[in-house]
Amino acid sequence: MVIKITIPGLVKMKKSGKKIVCLTAYDYLTAQIFDRAEIDLILVGDSAANVIYGHSTTLPIGMSEMLSHTQAVCNAVKRALVVADMPFMSYQPSVDVAIKNAGDFLKAGAQAVKLEGGTAVLEIAEKLIKFGIPVMGHLGLTPQSVHAFGGYKLQAKTNSAQKQLIQDAKQLENIGCFSIVLEKIPSSIAKTVTDSLKIPTIGIGAGPACDGQILVWQDMLGLSEIKLKFVKQYADLRKIITGGVKQYKKEVEQGTFPQKKHSFEIDECP
Ligand code: KIV
Repeated sequence: MVIKITIPGLVKMKKSGKKIVCLTAYDYLTAQIFDRAEIDLILVGDSAANVIYGHSTTLPIGMSEMLSHTQAVCNAVKRALVVADMPFMSYQPSVDVAIKNAGDFLKAGAQAVKLEGGTAVLEIAEKLIKFGIPVMGHLGLTPQSVHAFGGYKLQAKTNSAQKQLIQDAKQLENIGCFSIVLEKIPSSIAKTVTDSLKIPTIGIGAGPACDGQILVWQDMLGLSEIKLKFVKQYADLRKIITGGVKQYKKEVEQGTFPQKKHSFEIDECP
């Protein structure tokens, strides 16, 4: 029997010192593979804008695409906690807009939503939580603010930025967020935040002290071409896929595929 990971279960993992293993997924088959491999949390990230649709930022993706990816992932997942990423401008305009969109993600099967930012999103996050919608925070390099940051730069470098980040994390915890993603910040700051919270931190480019780790799967398995310092590549899918596709092309061109065993006779069943 598969025991589903729950929000309280995830928070307990921090208490017991068990690392929380997270990955992004955007479609049925990869979500199924990750779930069967017992990944604890699957994020339907707005990074889909980059790795599925080829945009240079996460800003262009909208609710309709994100809902469709969330539905596909939820159709596959039996064990992992599924978190849907709220895309740019799906929560910022007003509490009402945020409630409607977050509700649609839960209707699609997600158990929680993630939104980016600290002070600016506190009121919105608090309202969602009050309506029973679990919220994951996201601090540090929040990609929806890429233009304000002037690029995908390391965050929390100055004393005041570090103070602000620690304060934001505390406030997100106080209003009831169940976890916080910390992206691209110095390891020492991620450790300070992690040690000061009861809820788990999930790091991406935030060092080893976080309670869990997340990566974009296409980076981690070598499907995307970009190489990032904080990513370890565990497979070379680009090479494997290229090899298979080249072999297929060769066999079709040579007439060695399909063979008799891949073909049907008139009287064959079914
Ligand atoms: O969209 C995403 O994939 C994310 C992770 C990088 C945390 O927000």
